[in-house]
Amino acid sequence: MARRLRIAVNTGGGDAPGLNAVLRAVTLTALNRGFEVFGIQKGYLGLLDTKYLVPLTSNSVRGITHLGGSILGTNNRGNPLAIRVVEGGVERYVDVSDQAVTNFRNLGFDGLIAIGGDGSLKIAAGLARKGIPIIGVPKTIDNDLAATYVTFGFETAVDTATDAIDKLHSTAESHDRVMVVEVMGRYCGWIALHAGVAGSADVILIPEIPFDLEKICQKVMQRELDGRHFSMVVCAEGASAKDGQLTLVENAHDGREARLGGVAEKIASEIAKRTGKETRSMVLGHLQRGGQPTADDRLLSLRYGAAAVRLAEEGKWGTMVAFDPPEMTSVPLEAALETMKTVPVECDTVRTARELGISFGD
Ligand code: F6P
Repeated sequence: MARRLRIAVNTGGGDAPGLNAVLRAVTLTALNRGFEVFGIQKGYLGLLDTKYLVPLTSNSVRGITHLGGSILGTNNRGNPLAIRVVEGGVERYVDVSDQAVTNFRNLGFDGLIAIGGDGSLKIAAGLARKGIPIIGVPKTIDNDLAATYVTFGFETAVDTATDAIDKLHSTAESHDRVMVVEVMGRYCGWIALHAGVAGSADVILIPEIPFDLEKICQKVMQRELDGRHFSMVVCAEGASAKDGQLTLVENAHDGREARLGGVAEKIASEIAKRTGKETRSMVLGHLQRGGQPTADDRLLSLRYGAAAVRLAEEGKWGTMVAFDPPEMTSVPLEAALETMKTVPVECDTVRTARELGISFGD
């Protein structure tokens, strides 16, 4: 008879719509096999302090498929490999992963299902190297993990961004303004590309295609000549000018990633200066991470969660669930984190955009 597993699950890094649906699928799929499931709250903190550990039952995951956020909470600070401690006013980063591994074993867990993006799955891979059996579930609105066809949360973020672009269109048009909308995506332009094309942007700026401000202004002025006195520019937070640099809110420090943001405002003021057009910018920011997941994202999340438990049952620890349409499959966790999935500049969506007359500022 198959052994009854005792599984822990956590959600790490930034949240993404669909996390709760994954948690529901993990819990119910595991309980239906007679397994025990425990949620680790606040990212990895539950491995260090048992007050953050909660048993998951069918009641705990009732009615959560459609909810944004994570019932376990999430955290991009509690990395057991480099945890921040302040002693006598002095801040330092300490590796407490041995303690996390010991606690994990003492709690009698067979393995951890870690739901996270590249940052938190790298922590998972670090803990796996130290002996914790882990199965990763890829999560990020950025859709930037090469080992899986699409991550859950991406479609919802694109829908949110597209809806915002639709709304900004009418105000741009009534005021004869240029609107520059900044969307998330870190070093990849997936959200900007998909929302920009779906939302009929005039210019889309993505990190994979460095822009030339003159080309953006030419597009705006050409529209002016054609009697279209407004323009919609959608830019990814990671977009930069040819020979330019990323625009950052905060530099990377102490193992924390740099925070991107602010490029839309820079582009907007240059457009205003060079074209004389009244221009406004807006940063959609964390709006894109909130709210109810779309039906497709819910389905994808539920499939990711169920697949993770199937892998646990098969003993395939050290892997990440990957979507290889139409199937859910697995890839080695370490290898899955090696390659970032950037937008191929010749892909069909970019070609289609160009054929529709959308400029990439190049
Ligand atoms: O990776 C997801 C993401 O939302 C990025 O698109 C964005 O750059 C980053 O997280 C923002 O992180 P934080 O929640 O730390 O502001």
